[in-house]
Amino acid sequence: MLILGVESSCDETAAAIVEETGAPDKPWRVRSNVIASQVALHREWGGVVPELASRQHLRDICGVLEQALADAGAGWRDLGAVAVTQGPGLVGSLLVGLQAAKSVALSLDLPLVAVHHLAGHIESLILHNGPLPLPAVVLVVSGGHTSLYLMPADGEYRLIGRTRDDAAGEAYDKVAKLLGLGYPGGPVIDRVSKGGNDRAYDLPRFKITHKDRNPGPAGVRPPGFEKALEHRADFSFSGLKTAVLRLVQARDGRPFSEPEMADLCASFQRAVVDALLTRTFEAAGWFGAKSIGIAGGVSANSRLRADAVARGEQAGVPVFVPALSLTTDNAAMIAAAGLRKLRAGVTAGWDVNANASLPIG
Ligand code: KG4
Ligand code: ZN
Repeated sequence: MLILGVESSCDETAAAIVEETGAPDKPWRVRSNVIASQVALHREWGGVVPELASRQHLRDICGVLEQALADAGAGWRDLGAVAVTQGPGLVGSLLVGLQAAKSVALSLDLPLVAVHHLAGHIESLILHNGPLPLPAVVLVVSGGHTSLYLMPADGEYRLIGRTRDDAAGEAYDKVAKLLGLGYPGGPVIDRVSKGGNDRAYDLPRFKITHKDRNPGPAGVRPPGFEKALEHRADFSFSGLKTAVLRLVQARDGRPFSEPEMADLCASFQRAVVDALLTRTFEAAGWFGAKSIGIAGGVSANSRLRADAVARGEQAGVPVFVPALSLTTDNAAMIAAAGLRKLRAGVTAGWDVNANASLPIG
């Protein structure tokens, strides 16, 4: 069975065809994965401009859908279902993909599946690696989100931690802007960091002093301990961004030399990666996770990938990441999450609407 996935929640217009293989170790196979990126359009503004994004989605969507079919060597009549991102995201952007998907499903009389964008990022892990050992703790880290999920069973996602302020990718983008490195910041900082001294600048790690951070001695698990642990797995990145701002202000307009810039980027990257992995591995311990997954745009980061695997080997917990092509927003992950829901018997009605702040589940 072939499913068409459609994604337009932010600044990528994407369509993909995913095949259901029936193989237990690799249930889904990517047949095509087409992305029309709007990065060049938004670069001049230093971030995504919602109105420009939705207008560009409108221009691109039909061509992207046709390309996805052509790349898969398939025709409209070969499709068995349509999956689309319902939210969260920019509502004007979401609407374009949703209406396109509805039109395809209605005209071909196919089931329509509405997918949560972050469920898509989580399922990108299974699309690339096959089923994860469960329970798994999954970090979704992107420009819009930094969230930790506990996956007790396939298709079940429980939010156990999230950022209290900026997402990690947002911190990358804002710091790159501060340093005059351009947009999007993640790939540039990743590149500039290479060869830098990651200990040259001592940047702060967040400390969350919520009362639930210390609910009792380790190993003691009172009734409701899972609830208390949920508060302990939160992130914060705004302090780190402010620390970089202070460093820039202290220079009084004096530019950073190339080696200084490499040192600063490497130090910033070390702080972000350290914060992400420390919390993720702590949570994996608390919840007895048999595996860890890391997905979303920032999971393309070379240091995050390398350090995660190294820490996993040390801790004896396997770490899974998606293929690079499945890290940033794409529709193959939406198709995979759609197949999961379809097989669980969940489809959407024709009245399904875009939801900018859709809860997972
Ligand atoms: O998942 P995604 O495409 O969109 C959202 O759902 O937000 O993630 C985009 C984010 C951007 O903030 C971008 O700077 C970041 O992912 N990113 C990276 C890297 N590649 C993309 N961050 C760090 N290192 C990278 N190599
Ligand atoms: Zn995303």
